[in-house]
Parts: sequence; structure tokens; C-alpha cells
Amino acid sequence: MKIKSLVSTACLAMALTSGAFQIANADTLRADAALKADENGGTISRYIYGQFSEHLGGGIYDGIWVGPDSKIPNVRGIRSDVVAALKDLHVPVVRWPGGCFADEYDWRDGIGPRDQRPVRKNNWWGDAPETNQFGTHEFMDFIDQIGSEAYISVNVGSSSPKDMREWVEYMTSPGTDTLANERRKNGRDAPWKVAFWGIGNESWGCGGKMRPEYYADEYRRFQAFFHKSDTNQGLKIASGANAEHYEWTDTLMKVAGGDMDGISLHYYTLPTGDWNSSKGAATGFGTDQWVSTFSRTLKMEEIISKHEAIMDKYDPQKRVGLFVDEWGTWYDVEKGTNPGFLYQKNTLRDAVVAAANFNIFHHHVDRVKMTSIAQTINVLQAMILTDKDKIELTPTYYAFKMYVPFQDATALPLTFTAPQYSAGGNTIPAFNASAARGKDGHVYIGIANMDPADNIVLSVDVSGLKVTKVGGQVLTADKMDAANLPGVKAAVAPVDYKGGKIKGNQLTLDIPSKSVVVVQLN
Ligand code: AHR
Repeated sequence: MKIKSLVSTACLAMALTSGAFQIANADTLRADAALKADENGGTISRYIYGQFSEHLGGGIYDGIWVGPDSKIPNVRGIRSDVVAALKDLHVPVVRWPGGCFADEYDWRDGIGPRDQRPVRKNNWWGDAPETNQFGTHEFMDFIDQIGSEAYISVNVGSSSPKDMREWVEYMTSPGTDTLANERRKNGRDAPWKVAFWGIGNESWGCGGKMRPEYYADEYRRFQAFFHKSDTNQGLKIASGANAEHYEWTDTLMKVAGGDMDGISLHYYTLPTGDWNSSKGAATGFGTDQWVSTFSRTLKMEEIISKHEAIMDKYDPQKRVGLFVDEWGTWYDVEKGTNPGFLYQKNTLRDAVVAAANFNIFHHHVDRVKMTSIAQTINVLQAMILTDKDKIELTPTYYAFKMYVPFQDATALPLTFTAPQYSAGGNTIPAFNASAARGKDGHVYIGIANMDPADNIVLSVDVSGLKVTKVGGQVLTADKMDAANLPGVKAAVAPVDYKGGKIKGNQLTLDIPSKSVVVVQLN
């Protein structure tokens, strides 16, 4: 009976999306999994759920900062609707001010009376005037308001160790030195806590076009003037590789591995994989681009594993963390928007991409200590889209929200075999999944059903676990490109999950096609 109803739901999805999306052969698939609830797979750092906010398009201005005189409700210039939404996500850390922007940023431009701050040209992002109304104090206020921590990216490409040292002192010195007193004069008495400091960004590209040997030496030089102290326990993160640039990680680890706490990795998901012509559209795509998107995003598993293997060679104790501090989907910009602002719509596909990546990160908790998705608001794979006084929470936002119980949870080994789905010359596993025991004691299973057509009945052997209730949340929609946009009724939002049953040691989960499901076992 259950299966029958699942099949008819799948057929309905096919009917709704046929023609434009060419989904064929909708079916109910079966798969098996086994959960080892008594084994400890390591702690899933909460920092894996980090955010990235750059001075780019509407990422800061309009997205976070509207100014104290705005009609949009705000606290000291920071919009209150955005703060409330981000508080609900338990954002552990925000990376700022860039991105490429960071390697042209002079932190002194963003302190002192706002009406006296210089206006600069944002050379990387649409030549927009950078008014510096949002600087160090405003960023740290934002962090405090959302209850998060800071990851400051310092300028290596066009700056000096002196500038970095002075910014670190300005922010973290408890003393009576001139920089600490300047901070006080600007309204902040106590030193700030900064969790992470990025020493450069994409130093192989927009951060200076350096060769790995050159940057490794630059990193060593900068970090020599980065002083940890009682009030600065921030970790030093080296600018790492782009995607499969393994030589970068190898050289960095060999030359400077002993002087860093972490090294970054950037990997973006483009449906076509083509940076130079069309990357693929955010909406209106067909099954082929749905599948190619997942085929590319799942490469994250291989890329992390290969960088890890290199790091293991130089750091077998796994002291140095891998920080995936830029990841997410990157599509063609929306027609009619400034190409330099990287504004794209956000659909159900993005939510499933996010969950698929979370499941990958959870399998690498001994090395992946932090990630930050690009970017929080109005840019690339955003959590929130704003339009003047309106905001909308995206499908990606909801994927992050559903996975909150995984923050600082204990990973539990979950083995499974997934059926495959093929289209347009690409084949993907129909789903991926991960499990953890949350800090609240409950067991959670997160599933990304990447199959655009087929529902999956997943049988999980939960031997050793006493389950009395199966609950959770599910996020899905009729259309692959169902989007949430400001001022329009949301097309994608999570609802209570009612597809789970427990009988003895056997947990059965009905997982709708193209969905994110987080199951809670009580
Ligand atoms: O996230 C947008 C840009 O992508 C960042 O500024 C840069 O680091 C990367 O190339």
C-alpha cells in the first residue's frame, strides 16, 4: 500500500515536470543501510556549518548593512530580519571581508567616524563604490548580534606583515598601546576574540598570482609577525588550493606545514564545469544539468580525500585542519543584474547540493575542521535573498537549518549501497547520507536524495539502538528548480517527516525524490 502511494507520488512528479524537465521512468527504488550506533566516528565540528560574507554585490550592503538611519528595522545599522534568520541557523563562524576583496582591503579604511571614511573602488566586484560604512567594528557587532565567531581574512597580496600585525593588535590587544587605545576611542573597550585568521585568499589567483613556492615563503614571513597571546588564540589558516591543484597543498605542507593551524580549499560546483562560457542556469534547467550538477558536487569527496592524503604525508597526527572555506554552486548571473555581483536564484537543487556536501564533510571529521559556504546573502549559493525591505529564506537556508543537530555531534558510521541514476552521460548515486548522535542524545540521519525522479525506500539496520519514535523534517517540491524569492510565497520549506517506521531492528524510511530528509530517532 505504502509503495503504491509512493509510486503514484513519483508519477505525479513526473507528470508535473515532464516536457520541460524530461524526467522518465519514475519509480520506487530500494536500498539497504546499516548504522553502527555504538561506534564513535569523531566529532563533527560545528564550524563545518560556517558562512562567508564578502564585500561583493549585495552581500554586505543591503544584505547586512542598511545603516542606522534606514527605514528597514535595524540595530546600529545591521538589519534585524537578517539577524533573526541567521540566529536560527546557529551560524558558528563568518568569514570576512573576502574573498578576492580581502587582498585589496585596507582595514584602516573601515574604522573611525563613518562620515570620514574613504570611498574606494571595488575592483574585483563590478567596480562598485566601497563606502567602508561596514568595517571592523560593524562586522564584529554583526557577529555578536547573530551569536557567531569571526574568521578574518587578511591582505597578503597587496599589503605587508606590518599591516596584518597592526590589525591583529588593534582587534585583540588588551593593553594600553596606541592601537588598543585607538580601538577604545572608536567605541570598543575589550579586545575581540577572533577564532580564525586567514593569511591571504586564493594567493594562486586573485590574491597575487603566486607560485606555491613563493606563497609558502610569503606565508612563513607573514605568520612570523602574527603573535598569539592570551587574548589572541586565533588559528592561522594558510591560503590553500583550488579544487584539484594538489601540488599547491603538497608544497605548502612541505615548506610551511609546521607553521600553520589550517590550510584552506576552494571548490565550486558549476553545472557545466565551464568557467569561461555558460556555467549553467540557476533555474529552468533540465534533468541533464541536475545530474551534471550532482556529478560535479560529489567530486568534493575525491578532492578532499586526495588533499587529505597529501596532508597525512606531512602531518600524520592530523594537527593541521583542512578548511573548505569557499564552496557551493556558481551559476550564470541572473539576467539584468550586474555580472560582477554574482546574484543567482536558489532552488531545491541547491538545498540538495548543500545536504550532499554536509554528508561528505561528516565523513572527514578528523581533517575537515571548518567550511564556509559562498556566500551568506545575495551572492552565489545564498541563505538569504533581500530586495529592499523584503527578505526570503532560500532552500539552502532550510538545508542548513535542518542539519543544525549535526553541529558538534558525534559522527556514527553509516554504510549503505545506493542505486544509480544516469542522464546526459553522467551517472550519480541516487542518494548519500550520514548519521550522528546529537548533543541532545538523539540519533540523526541526514539524507540527500539526488535522484530527480525516483523515491527510495531505505531499510536501515539499527541493531543496538532502542528506537521508540521516528520523526524529523523533509524538504522537497514538485519541481527541480522550485525557488524562494523575496516578495513571493515560498515554494520550498521543510515540513514534518512522516515517512519513517520502526520494527525491531529495522528502520524503514520512505525518501521522496529530489529531497533533503533529516530523521530524528528517539
Ligand atoms: O566567492 C566569490 C569569489 O570566489 C571569492 O571572492 C574568491 O575567493 C573566489 O574566487
